Amino acid sequence: MTAVTQQQPLLEGRGVSKYFGGLAALSDVDFTVYPGEIMGLIGPNGSGKTTLFDCLSRVQDISKGQVFFKGEDITRKKPYQVAHLGLSRTFQIIRVYNKLTVIENLLLSQQWRNKGILKQLRPSGQQMEGRAKELTDFLLMSHVIKEKAGNLSGGQKRLLEIGMALMPDPDLILLDEATSGINPTLIETIKDRIRELNSKYNKTFLLIEHNIHFIGDLCDRVFVLDYGQKLAEGTPDEIMNNQAVIEAYFGADGDEGDDEYDE
Ligand SMILES: Nc1ncnc2c1ncn2[C@@H]1O[C@H](COP(=O)(O)OP(=O)(O)O)[C@@H](O)[C@H]1O
Ligand SMILES: [Mg+2]
Repeated sequence: MTAVTQQQPLLEGRGVSKYFGGLAALSDVDFTVYPGEIMGLIGPNGSGKTTLFDCLSRVQDISKGQVFFKGEDITRKKPYQVAHLGLSRTFQIIRVYNKLTVIENLLLSQQWRNKGILKQLRPSGQQMEGRAKELTDFLLMSHVIKEKAGNLSGGQKRLLEIGMALMPDPDLILLDEATSGINPTLIETIKDRIRELNSKYNKTFLLIEHNIHFIGDLCDRVFVLDYGQKLAEGTPDEIMNNQAVIEAYFGADGDEGDDEYDE
């Protein structure tokens, strides 16, 4: 983990709001992610976490407020533009091409991101293939490189999606429930890989997680959404002991709330 110092944020949201008709999925959310951090984003179901990722990766319009990445206003940028600036994400519902092999998935993800980029800046096919192979090694997937993605386990698909997000060598990676529904061994693999990407390659992470141990083990800071609003922000310890957070998850009377948080 990296100590956070007073430095220029890598990502900053100011008053970010998103309305779906009359529903405020996000209301006036402020947040900062500093370079080198692993930041957790938690909150009950429907609290707006995925919507925030959709706004940041610009697959959803931001209704109000502003988002800055590397000091640049990205509030109205296109998805491929933010990808080109170095922001990459995975999806809560896995998006891999089942009929294509692992390496084909990696190569295709890169082609999509290259949209709109000047041709001469585009890395060659050979470079891309080299990078895809490096990534499958790094993710301990080299033995399934020619396997169709449809034949992979849920956990391996998650790893592949992380690989697809890493293909353009981003600075900030947003992971939406990277560990949901996967076995404990692969969760450890994902944890190790995130740690190494962070400590050795200086990658910054913002991760949506329900696995509280994962958050506690990995994150420098956590911020909490509830009903589209920021409820709290702090170290994992501070957050686990925060009364408002406990109430949001389990209800003021101590009754257990959402089943999804049981282990
Ligand atoms: N495309 C959409 N159209 C309408 N409502 C949506 C859409 N996406 C999300 N929502 C609503 O926004 C709220 C936040 O959803 P979401 O961001 O998926 O929550 P979380 O990821 O925290 O579980 C929910 O009430 C959800 O129904
Ligand atoms: Mg979600």
